[in-house]
Amino acid sequence: MNLKLRILRPEDVSSSYVNWFLNDKVKKFSDNQYRTFTYEGQYEYVKNCLNNPDVDLYGIFDGDLHVGNIVISGLESVHKKAEITYVVGETSYWGKGVGKFAISSIIHLAKEKYNLNKLFAGLSENNLGSKIILERNGFVLEGKRLKHLFYNGKFCNQLDYGLILKK
Ligand SMILES: CC(C)(COP(=O)(O)OP(=O)(O)OC[C@H]1O[C@@H](n2cnc3c(N)ncnc32)[C@H](O)[C@@H]1OP(=O)(O)O)[C@@H](O)C(=O)NCCC(=O)NCCS
Repeated sequence: MNLKLRILRPEDVSSSYVNWFLNDKVKKFSDNQYRTFTYEGQYEYVKNCLNNPDVDLYGIFDGDLHVGNIVISGLESVHKKAEITYVVGETSYWGKGVGKFAISSIIHLAKEKYNLNKLFAGLSENNLGSKIILERNGFVLEGKRLKHLFYNGKFCNQLDYGLILKK
């Protein structure tokens, strides 16, 4: 694999990207289960991210193939903290280290490019894969919000993870 992150541009939007979200496995632990995805909608979304100074949306690429996204938001925060959300949409890439790579790369950018003090992420307690990739990158569990999310017809707990970048 030849993995890299780069800022996603509207012209990167493809039908495979839109189709990631037809897969229940991909949306079962996120608010994407409540959204409708179309080519035009994703094009607008990517364009809006590009024009929003508070948010950077990175595509995760294997060579030229777009396999996932990682978003960092809150870049203008006076607290110098930002939230990350991520998806590896091409499920044939799951379990191959792509998620782990995306998080370690965003940590590097958070320090070197954005000069942040902290990154944080919230996830459903049942999202084992997400939990593993955060912990392997040094994120620590800061708290648990009980029955905080409603996914797949059930209320579930949210885990809040954080990583302090400047010691
Ligand atoms: C969560 C997600 C990003 C993980 O991406 P990934 O590329 O599969 O992650 P990695 O391959 O880097 O996984 C790292 C480790 O976690 C393990 N892992 C991943 N998913 C797992 C799961 N569901 N159960 C148990 N272990 C899991 C992998 O086997 C790997 O362990 P290894 O290094 O010992 O083999 C991906 O499954 C995904 O996009 N899910 C849907 C969207 C989502 O949930 N986003 C997060 C919202 S908070």
